[in-house]
Amino acid sequence: MTDLHQIALKIVSNGKGILAADESTGTMTKRFDAINVESNAENRLKFRETLFSSSGMKDYIGGVILYDETIKQITNNGINIPDLIKSSGSVVGIKVDSGAKSLAGSAEEKVTEGLDGLRERFKEYYKLGARFTKWRAVYNITENFPTTLAIKSNAHALARYAALAQEANIVPIIEPEVLMDGDHDINKCFEVTSEVLKVCYEELYLHNLDLKGTILKPNMILPGSSSSSKTSNDEIANLTLKCLKMNVPEEVPGIAFLSGGQSEIEATKNLNEINKINDTNFLITFSYGRALQQSTLSYWGKNQDDFANTQTVFNHRAKMNSLATSGNWIENKDKIII
Ligand code: 13P
Repeated sequence: MTDLHQIALKIVSNGKGILAADESTGTMTKRFDAINVESNAENRLKFRETLFSSSGMKDYIGGVILYDETIKQITNNGINIPDLIKSSGSVVGIKVDSGAKSLAGSAEEKVTEGLDGLRERFKEYYKLGARFTKWRAVYNITENFPTTLAIKSNAHALARYAALAQEANIVPIIEPEVLMDGDHDINKCFEVTSEVLKVCYEELYLHNLDLKGTILKPNMILPGSSSSSKTSNDEIANLTLKCLKMNVPEEVPGIAFLSGGQSEIEATKNLNEINKINDTNFLITFSYGRALQQSTLSYWGKNQDDFANTQTVFNHRAKMNSLATSGNWIENKDKIII
C-alpha cells in the first residue's frame, strides 16, 4: 500500500471524519460578527485551539483542514498547532486554493485560483506537518449554469492542484461543490453533480493521479435551498449513492461530504441515511465546516471563558457525526445537556 493511500485511509476510517476549520479570515470574520466576537488572530486561535484540544478529536476526527494563518500559530501552552492536532492521532491538512474568482469568458461563474507557486508552497506546508490538502471549486445551478467552460476549467485546475499535491507526498482532497443556492429540484442537482464529477475524473486520469491516494469531498444530492419541492432523506441518500456509483472510480478510498449550508441535524441525518444504505466500497464520512462548528461557535460566543463546556458541545457534534458514518445515529438521542 502506498503512503498516500495509507494516509487517506487513516483520515476517513474507523468512524472518523474531517473537521474543516480552514475558513479564510474573511469568512471567519463573518462567523465571529454573528456572535459578536472581535475577529483578530488571537480570538481565532483561541476558538480553534479549543476545538483541537477537545477529547472528541481522538475518537471522531481523522483530519483537520487548516488555513494558512492557523498552521503557523502557537497555542498559549507553547505547542504549535500541527503538533496539537497530531497529539490526538489526527492528520494535519491545509487549504491551498486562494478562492473562487470570476471566470473570464463567463464572468458570473467562478473558477478557483491558487496554482501559481503551489509546488513551493506544498514543500513549505509539508515541512510544517501537512499530510493532506484541500482545493474547492464551486458551481452554481441556474437555467444557464454551470457552463461547460466552468465545469472544464475547474476540473483542470483541480487536477493540476491534485497532481502537485501528490508530487509533494500530500493527499489531495478534491472538492467540487455544486452549491445549494436556487430553487432547482433534486433531479437537477443530480444531473449537474454527475456531469461535474465525470469531468473531474476525466481530468484526474489525464494528470496521472493515483486515485487511491485521494479523497473526494462532494456535495450531497439535495434540492435547491429555495426549492418548494419536498424530498425525503431516503431519496437524498439513494440519489447521492447513485450519483457516486455512476461517476466516482472504485479506486477512490473515501468520500467525505461537505455540509454546504445544511443545518447540523440535517447534515448528520443525511449522512446517516447514506451510510444505512451504503452499497459501495467507499468509506463515507463527513468533512464538515459549519455543521461541526455552528452550535459550538454559538455557545462559545456567549461563554468565551468556558473552555470545558465549549468542548462538550463540540465533542457531542463530532460524536453524532461519527455515529452517522455507520448508520447508527438516532435522532431522538441527539441531545446535549450542559
Ligand atoms: P461546510 O461543511 O460548511 O460546507 O464547509 C466545508 C468546506 O470545507 C467548504 O470548503
